[in-house]
Parts: sequence; C-alpha cells; structure tokens
Amino acid sequence: MSNSEIVNVVITGAAGQIAYSLIFNVIKGDMFGNDQKIKLVLLDIPAMIDGLRGVVMEIEDCAYPLVSSIVCTTDVKEAFTDAHYAILVGAMPRRDGMERSDLLKANAAIFKVQGKAINDYANKNVKVLVVGNPANTNALIASTCAPNIPKENFSCLTRLDHNRAKAQIALKANVNVKDVHNVIIWGNHSSTQYPDSRCGYINLPTGKTPISNVIKNDQWLQGEFITTVQKRGAAIISARKLSSAASAAKAITDHMHDWVFGTPEGEYVSMGVPSDGSYGIPEGIIFSFPVTIKNGKYTIVQGLPIDPFSRALIDSTHSELIQEKTSAFQFIE
Ligand code: NAD
Ligand code: LMR
Repeated sequence: MSNSEIVNVVITGAAGQIAYSLIFNVIKGDMFGNDQKIKLVLLDIPAMIDGLRGVVMEIEDCAYPLVSSIVCTTDVKEAFTDAHYAILVGAMPRRDGMERSDLLKANAAIFKVQGKAINDYANKNVKVLVVGNPANTNALIASTCAPNIPKENFSCLTRLDHNRAKAQIALKANVNVKDVHNVIIWGNHSSTQYPDSRCGYINLPTGKTPISNVIKNDQWLQGEFITTVQKRGAAIISARKLSSAASAAKAITDHMHDWVFGTPEGEYVSMGVPSDGSYGIPEGIIFSFPVTIKNGKYTIVQGLPIDPFSRALIDSTHSELIQEKTSAFQFIE
C-alpha cells in the first residue's frame, strides 16, 4: 500500500480512556508514519455517542494534517466496511459483583459480532489487534467468526507487558530502556503470563551483554521481576482506580507500527498470535510469542532454549488459555 492511498483505521471503544490517548497517537503519525493519510473510523455504543462527538471535536481542533476524514458510528457494518486496520479496544469492563463467566459471556458476544462484521465487510488483508480483555480469547473468538480472513491477521496485545518488562530491567540495571532488547512475554495477557529475560541483552558501552551478566541476581530475575510484570496491570488499577490507558495506547502504537514497518535486524518483540505448535503450544489458541516482523508478516522466533523453570511457566499460562477458551466458546456456538 503506497502512502498516497488513504488507510481506513477502525478503533472500537473510541469514547473510552485508552482511545483518548490512542487516537491522538494515530493521527500524529506515530503508528503509520508521518506521511500516511488516515480515514479514522470510531465505533462505540449508543450510550457513548455524545462523548464520542466531543472526541471528534478535539480531533478536529488538533488540526493534524494526516486526518482525511472521520466517521463516528455505532454500527458495525458501517465501521468495518473496507477496514485496513481494526483495533478492537472496546469491551465490557468487569463490574462489582460480576462473575468471570459473566465477563466472558458479555465479551464473547461483542467479539463474535465484530469478528463476523470484519469477515463480511473488511478488506481481506485487514490487520486486527484485540486489546479488550480477556484479549487473547477475544482475539480467538473474533478470528473464529471471521473464517474468510487469514488467521495470522488476528493478534492480541501483549506489547504492554513487553514494554513493562523492558522498563523493569532498565530500572534494575540502571540503563536507558532503549538499550534493553529481546525480553519475551509468553502466553496470556493475564497474571499467568511468563515474562522471560533469559535471552535478552543490554547494549553497554562495552558491547552487547546478556541481561543476567548485568543483573547478577537470578533470584530477582526469576522472582520479583516476573511477579512485578505479571501484576502490573492490577497494581495500576489499584493505584489509579482505572486501568492503564496512556501506556496501553503507547503499546498498541508500538505493536501496529512494528507490524507495518517491521522489527530491526536481530530484534524481537512480543505479540499474541495464533499458536502453530512452536514451543509445544498446539494450534487453536492465541498465545504471546517472541516474533520478528518483515514486510508486514511476523515470524515466531524459533529454537530458543526452554529450561524446566520456563517450561513449567509456559505450560501453566497455556492451561489457563485452554480453560478460558472452553468457558468462552460455550457462548458463541
Ligand atoms: P473504558 O471502559 O474506558 O472504554 C471502553 C469503551 O468501550 C467504552 O467507551 C465502551 O462504551 C466501549 N464499548 C463497550 N462495548 C462496546 C462495543 N460492543 N462496541 C464498541 N465499543 C464498546 O476502557 P479502557 O480503559 O479504554 O479499556 C478497554 C479495554 O482494554 C478493557 O477491556 C481493558 O481491560 C483492556 N486493556 C487491555 C490491555 C492489554 O494490554 N491487552 C491493557 C489495558 C486495558
Ligand atoms: C493492564 O494490563 O493494564 C490491563 O489489562 C489491566 C486490566 O485488567 O484492564
């Protein structure tokens, strides 16, 4: 796709708090580049339409030149028609007294409808990123309901966890976060995820150095580092009384940017993508793996060593995803 063509970008949950940061990253050019014109399609539910109109006024008032047009809608057919990129942020949040099964049920219904609309109306090369929780399972539902769109075009967000892992390593090692590379998030975007620093390295003035040679503290790398990243989302909710928003929007921007423009040579990032048997995770779920990206296509990094400690954590997050799938799929038959 050349930059002279306008790309159609759908953001759902557009009146919500993540979207309030995300939309402005997109129209500034942080996601698709500084010369890519965008038709912005904003979807939310009818109760939010007045708020959404306010967001549209602010988009106009930013006077960013990349915005070619804005559509504000509550209709999935209108939203997803000819979509090139679909960022599915909108989801039912967990409310007081709600059981996990209620949440799975409500969100299964949303992602079934949106998956079907993507199947029927979107561009056949549409790239889909699911952010709304439970993100991996919602992405699987949307993909299952979109059999005409290649499975590999559906992904879920674990880049926020990846960025969190890099930031924790940088803080501990007292280096700039830009010098931390190749950490991995395995599995579910939940507290069972496995943040893995074993293959990562830090660029020091003396050269590329394994993380464990800089942070010589296995107890921290296999303990507090992992639990801090696993529980970061909950810690932010507890402190802010709202879930992460600006950092989530930044991670969404990184995920889509790299999916379109690729990853630097030798560098990998974490993405929730359909499992293909790699690392003993059979097909049938959306699992976060280390990937490299070239020409708009990602490849799961192969051949990384998996020690018994890592195996146990990868198997545990895999089991949780299988359970989530079983619970959620009873609502979409
Ligand atoms: P929010 O409640 O502020 O906004 C959600 C928006 O979605 C609301 O405007 C709501 O009306 C809308 N919505 C609900 N149902 C919809 C539907 N069927 N179609 C279109 N829009 C719909 O929430 P938020 O803080 O923006 O978070 C959104 C989601 O992202 C939540 O599920 C949250 O848990 C999740 N999240 C995921 C990650 C991640 O890393 N994967 C990180 C942070 C938050
Ligand atoms: C996050 O990781 O910040 C969110 O997914 C937390 C949540 O439950 O919304």
